[in-house]
Amino acid sequence: MAKVYIKTFGCQMNVYDSARMRDALLVHGYKETDNPDVADILLFNTCHIREKASEKLFSEIGRVARGKKKNALVVVAGCVVQAEGAEILKRCHDIDIAIGPQNYHQLPELIAKYNRKNGRKIVADFPAESKFDFLPEPQKNAASAFLAVQEGCDNFCSYCVVPYTRGCEYSRPSKDILAEARALVKNGAKEIMLLGQNVNCWHGDKGRDLGDLIRDLAKIRDLKRIRYTTSYPSKITKNLISAHANCKKLMPYIHIPIQSGSDAVLKAMNRKYTVAEYEKIVAAFRKMRPDIAISSDFIVGFPGETEKDFNDTLELVKRVGYASSFSFKYSSRPGTPASLMKNQIPEDVKTKRLIKLQALLLSQQRAFNEATIGKEFEVLLTEVGKNPGQLIGYSPYMQGTVVKAPKKLLGQIVRVKVTGASATALQAELIA
Ligand code: 5AD
Ligand code: SF4
Repeated sequence: MAKVYIKTFGCQMNVYDSARMRDALLVHGYKETDNPDVADILLFNTCHIREKASEKLFSEIGRVARGKKKNALVVVAGCVVQAEGAEILKRCHDIDIAIGPQNYHQLPELIAKYNRKNGRKIVADFPAESKFDFLPEPQKNAASAFLAVQEGCDNFCSYCVVPYTRGCEYSRPSKDILAEARALVKNGAKEIMLLGQNVNCWHGDKGRDLGDLIRDLAKIRDLKRIRYTTSYPSKITKNLISAHANCKKLMPYIHIPIQSGSDAVLKAMNRKYTVAEYEKIVAAFRKMRPDIAISSDFIVGFPGETEKDFNDTLELVKRVGYASSFSFKYSSRPGTPASLMKNQIPEDVKTKRLIKLQALLLSQQRAFNEATIGKEFEVLLTEVGKNPGQLIGYSPYMQGTVVKAPKKLLGQIVRVKVTGASATALQAELIA
């Protein structure tokens, strides 16, 4: 039986896409392996968001390709393929097939028909049909599963490649989403993370929004937890905020990236909200669900960012108080308006700012985690811990939690009491 090895770079959407490509190959008789040296297909799902991410890719492909089985096919998927087009085949001679993010349903056929003698192959267009209509339902999944409800982006933030690599915004029909959710739950998922580059821009027919979709999903009896990411701040509806108060299965956590605490920088980034508007949205979430954990993404060193702009970001962080966050140095991406801006910030300034911001964010994360010591809540155990007798799961607030528990509880939701906390994790014990 032919074996496929899959390596995923980048965001949760890529993790989801890799799972759907794996499913498509499984129904065509492939088996998954975690050993690249025995695989017949080596599949790399790639990320283009920052320079570092895409640079890592080519060295990794080269390294793995050196040990591969004779005649094994190297397939590269994802955003780097969409961004580089046919250039990718010139740049990396190990690649046999390159496939863009909207073409994944064509993968099994491309592999079946592939013949090296006819030349290497790239498929990276935006086909009229939706890949979602052709991909099979999930074949296997973990207790916590991803489900893409929306894809692409029409916002064109001036630094970002996503509108070019993922295409324009597209919402999947609710009946397809509900069917996929039921299949995931049938296969053992207790939690579903709804995914979209702008997940809160999801819209169904008759003006239904993400809040309505979440309420529909909550009716699936054996689905216990619902999450969603990533949200665009100014497009949050009252209906979504209120779902946090009246939908018990919706977890008290919201990832709501602000990027910068300076209105001037937000404007240059083409983000369509002000700092004050953002803080109003945060306040509305907190009014509805006082214990909600807030997280964000930040970019430091955007072209033209002054010391004052950066300090405004630090002040914003102090006012909001984040439970967790992701922060990055601005990375110039080919083809984006920001890459052409004159006032680029030197690398050492970016580094200094990132270190300062991350120290503040980490201290907030530690404080948030420490504040849960002594509390009781439910954790969905999804992984085996490093030490024997330990399982790892996530708290309702998305805190990684290490629990002393027997392996048979893997995949279960258990009630725990928090006994300890660090900046990055909680320790907890089972409550009988
Ligand atoms: N440079 C740095 N960070 C970026 N992000 C997106 N594009 C860039 C870039 N060019 C970050 C943003 C976004 C997250 C997914 O990645 O913070 O929210
Ligand atoms: Fe990129 Fe902005 Fe779209 Fe997010 S909203 S995917 S940062 S363009």
